[in-house]
Amino acid sequence: MTSAFPLVAATDIARRDPQHGRWLLHPARLALHGGERLSITGPSGSGKSVFLRALALLDPLDGGHVEWRGKRVARPAIPRYRRSIAYIRQRPALLDGTVEDNLRYPFTLRAYRDLQFERERVASLAAQAGRDSDFLDRRASELSGGEAQIAALIRVLQLDPDVLLLDEPTASLDPASSHAIEGLIGAWFDAGAARASIWVSHDPAQAERMSERHLTMQAGVLDEAPQASLDRENTTR
Ligand SMILES: Nc1ncnc2c1ncn2[C@@H]1O[C@H](COP(=O)(O)OP(=O)(O)O)[C@@H](O)[C@H]1O
Ligand SMILES: [Mg+2]
Repeated sequence: MTSAFPLVAATDIARRDPQHGRWLLHPARLALHGGERLSITGPSGSGKSVFLRALALLDPLDGGHVEWRGKRVARPAIPRYRRSIAYIRQRPALLDGTVEDNLRYPFTLRAYRDLQFERERVASLAAQAGRDSDFLDRRASELSGGEAQIAALIRVLQLDPDVLLLDEPTASLDPASSHAIEGLIGAWFDAGAARASIWVSHDPAQAERMSERHLTMQAGVLDEAPQASLDRENTTR
């Protein structure tokens, strides 16, 4: 069931180019409820990543604010907020060392001090993504792009976020890796009653598979997708 409050509500969040003052993201509003899966499509350079990063409060806002379950996220609450809402980038950053070293890394951070690394759990996520048992021992530097993204995703999923912000996570991956990543995310979504995701994708078929509500980004302006595309989707179901 959805609760009275959205999980995340953005009110007029905006971003400007710090050097030239140009709007990168015009004031944008969005409410994301538990159980909702959104997608955002739009041309390259239109501000999709800027929006997701702003929503995750990874970059300072130049206007507006974000609420988490009805409560405004003030500065001191940002680390806690970032624990609930995870941003997955197109090209994951992995540390030197093994996959397991990378998966253990978040538990060294203050924000996750109360949690413990569970090798069985991550091994099972890796297996779910079609990786065999030696995956955790592989060197991060030797992984393919697809394997690196799977590792980065497992690193996040083991922490049980409520919201995933997926920034073209499969954009440059082979079909098998893309499929594995969609599978992991689908399973994560189904495992919690009130989880939600926003998937930025340039693949309309993927946006339809992985979401029910579609938004567009055009020159820094976020909008609901035109009705025509929703109608088209409804008739192809
Ligand atoms: N930190 C930044 N400073 C200045 N310009 C930026 C910054 N981040 C992104 N931009 C610019 O904002 C625009 C939107 O970028 P982005 O959100 O990455 O587009 P996309 O829709 O492809 O994800 C681009 O013109 C990009 O160059
Ligand atoms: Mg982008």
